[in-house]
Amino acid sequence: MKRYSRITGTGSYLPPRRLTNADLVAELAAKGVETSDDWIVERTGIRARHFAADGVYSSDLGLEAARSALQAAGRNPQDVDLIIVATSTPDMVFPSTACILQNKLGANGCAAFDVQAVCSGFVYALAVADSMIQTGAAKCALVVGAEVFSRILDFNDRTTCVLFGDGAGAVVLEASTTPGILASDLHADGKHVGILCVPGHVSGGAILGDPLLKMDGQAVFKLAVGLLESAAKATLAKANLTEADIDWLVPHQANIRIMQSTARKLKLSMDKVVVTVAQHGNTSAASIPLALDTAVRSGQVKTGETLLLEGVGGGFTWGALLLVL
Ligand code: UT7
Repeated sequence: MKRYSRITGTGSYLPPRRLTNADLVAELAAKGVETSDDWIVERTGIRARHFAADGVYSSDLGLEAARSALQAAGRNPQDVDLIIVATSTPDMVFPSTACILQNKLGANGCAAFDVQAVCSGFVYALAVADSMIQTGAAKCALVVGAEVFSRILDFNDRTTCVLFGDGAGAVVLEASTTPGILASDLHADGKHVGILCVPGHVSGGAILGDPLLKMDGQAVFKLAVGLLESAAKATLAKANLTEADIDWLVPHQANIRIMQSTARKLKLSMDKVVVTVAQHGNTSAASIPLALDTAVRSGQVKTGETLLLEGVGGGFTWGALLLVL
């Protein structure tokens, strides 16, 4: 009998400090950086974001999301035999945020590692966990996307600092005799490294290069729209399904205009797209599981429905994953 993987619980967490556009506009104005609520809403759909307090790390946000997902799945930390954390803002250079989270959770002993694929990280991590469950290498995985992007933002650069926020989302993925994850499609093209990056590194005890986020927004936007369409279509083809079979598109929450454009290309009405970007901005690897958990808990998305998850981000990386909830 074929072995599948299936999501049995979802969770998410946003740190308590919430800044509306008006709050951020005022903070930036005090530094001489000019922006407006109108610009942010019109160009991105973002209305608020959450920032973690000093001393709070990706593992802390991920831990809250993980506990919530485990509770929803009716599982204990001891049931987990695999932890994958998707993050580009790890607690330390090493060990992995997954190992730190594992210890905080009390799931010591199981396999744990990070996936670094920036905003595509959660789709990558879920596809890896699915493969490990299908091969029998794992049977109860915790897949987490957790980010503290506020730590890598340049608050003198209005073209990027208004876009991102902190948060975490998680799912419990378990072995099942019924699907589950139907197909996935992952890609990367390193020739686009420079359009979205944090080009610094630690060397000899000092930071070399620039430790803050750099993005050519228009270049990212143009690439993203085409790549998301191709990944979505390739994933559907692998599962012998079409756009008409999708109940919900759960896209990376970067910009409402990218989501609208993707929906148009897939001939999906916006009524079938889960949109949470207004409330938390772009939380990179956390955005898809945050959106998924919000939709599950509000009853918008229901068990048995077919979901297409898709992400795109620095690397350049992109991918999609189709599942029955
Ligand atoms: O998560 C990974 C994926 N990342 C993304 O998906 C991001 C993709 N890119 C985008 O979402 C959009 O390109 C942005 C939201 C980043 C920018 O929107 P845009 O419509 O491409 O704006 P633009 O870069 O063409 O800038 C238009 C104008 C410029 O002024 P001029 O040159 O026309 O006078 C900018 O200087 O808007 C100006 N601008 C701002 N104005 C007020 C840029 N940022 C701001 C700002 N407030 N925060």
